[in-house]
Amino acid sequence: MRLILLGAPGAGKGTVAKLLTQIDGSVQISTGDILRGAVQAGTALGKKADAYMKAGDLVPDELIMDIMENRLQEPDCTKGFLLDGFPRTIPQAEALKILLGKLNIQLDVVANIIVPREEIILRLTTRRTCSNTDCQAIYNVRSHPPKAEGICDKCGSPIMQRADETEDVISKRLDTYNEKTAPLIAFYEKQGLLLNIDTPTTDGVVNAITARIAGD
Ligand code: AP5
Repeated sequence: MRLILLGAPGAGKGTVAKLLTQIDGSVQISTGDILRGAVQAGTALGKKADAYMKAGDLVPDELIMDIMENRLQEPDCTKGFLLDGFPRTIPQAEALKILLGKLNIQLDVVANIIVPREEIILRLTTRRTCSNTDCQAIYNVRSHPPKAEGICDKCGSPIMQRADETEDVISKRLDTYNEKTAPLIAFYEKQGLLLNIDTPTTDGVVNAITARIAGD
């Protein structure tokens, strides 16, 4: 699979990506996870990204394109990739188009996961994430709690709330999404790549994507 997962913060992109990778070995590439890992490790990239992320703003396009130009050329991407949280602006989408053209890679689909705002706020205030940057498993105290309270099922590390999960920052991230990322829906619709999905269940989203890729 070579696909882009579009959708507001909390729409379930990361949850769906993790399930899709189990189908055919495609890799999940989450710019959010890469940036959080860099912040936690205190790298130069992390120091530049930290304040933007905490405020619910987007990290500048140049930093993101530097990451993605390298990441998409790593050997594991030959099996396929799921872009989770990238592109997020029209300039990123245009730069990605040029990059994929250079690498001779064709996208299968851009899946736009549609979730109402009230449900998103509920999901994000109840989400928990594994603190281990190599794992970053996603939980939800309401709909998908870990087996042992506060502990990741997969790696045993503590689970936590992200720094950008306060109600104020969530609201800012949703506004940023509407202003800067939502225009990508029309961008990909024009290219005939868009698949709108508004089913409320994770399985429903996964099934809609796999059916489209299988050509059903
Ligand atoms: P990023 O990490 O990409 O965050 P996001 O897009 O805001 O998305 P989230 O990770 O919050 O949500 P998600 O859609 O993956 O939902 P999830 O599966 O976790 O970005 C963070 C920040 O990094 C940005 O604000 C920006 O600063 C920076 N950044 C990243 N990429 C960038 C870029 N390209 N350019 C510039 N800046 C960038 O699900 C949410 C919750 O809901 C979970 O608890 C889950 O268990 C639950 N859930 C999921 N599906 C369902 C369902 N069907 N029913 C019930 N609950 C569900």
